Amino acid sequence: MEQQVSKNIKHNIIHYESTGSTNEDAKMLARDGAADGTVVMADAQSAGKGRRGRIWQSPAGSNLYFSLMLKPEFAPDKASMLTLVMALSVVQALNKVTDSGFDLRIKWPNDIVVGGRKLCGILTEMNLDKNSIESVVIGVGINVNQEHFEETISDCATSLLLEKKRTDAQVIMPGRVELLESILEFFDMNYELFCKNLNLEFMKAEYEEYLANRNNRVKVFEPAGEYEGQALGINGQGELLVKTHDGNITEVYAGEVSVRGIYGYV
Ligand code: BTN
Repeated sequence: MEQQVSKNIKHNIIHYESTGSTNEDAKMLARDGAADGTVVMADAQSAGKGRRGRIWQSPAGSNLYFSLMLKPEFAPDKASMLTLVMALSVVQALNKVTDSGFDLRIKWPNDIVVGGRKLCGILTEMNLDKNSIESVVIGVGINVNQEHFEETISDCATSLLLEKKRTDAQVIMPGRVELLESILEFFDMNYELFCKNLNLEFMKAEYEEYLANRNNRVKVFEPAGEYEGQALGINGQGELLVKTHDGNITEVYAGEVSVRGIYGYV
């Protein structure tokens, strides 16, 4: 069932026709000693995982599902920034392979939306060995050719193909492997800079160009309660800066941010 689709210096890409979850596979491979940079991709997932325990619908033959496994040497508290590094890398790759054919936006921290609907989700999971990172797995699901979504998400999900049809754009649709390879190329460049600096200053301006939340009113959901404010951008740690009605600026690390006009919060 295992099939090698390509190999370059850094990434050993393992391709399954079908699996439970590529994130789970990548975690298991890490435990079994797989090399830093190993990638698992699958044509279909029977137990695709989304954030906050949600399911990631993963039908066969239409989308890109992959997980990149890393064994970094930095401290565990830096790992959450990798999610933003991957979000920007996906946008850069999509722009390259579609010749900027779609108006892509990033909903902080890492959903990629187009036309106000979600196109791509990213789930980052970390395994610790005592106080250091054993592995980080960054799982990416991009809706490429899917035309029908289950009723529960059909109002807020989209795919490249649906957007191409909706906007009547003359976009060349990327192949899934071509897209994966381009994402890895951009990620490698960004990751190198990230590892040198261990902050996101190097990509902050570009990330903010795509930030759907920027200058918009957002609602922040935190365990202690919720509040509204205006999103200003991100800081070097990838936290969302939100200006509240009293003029204070909060730095949002964890929690859920929703945006008026973007899916899920009208
Ligand atoms: C989200 O909820 O937005 C995150 C979705 C992440 C889905 C991808 S698909 C490939 C990888 N394997 C999984 O089980 N989940 C991630």
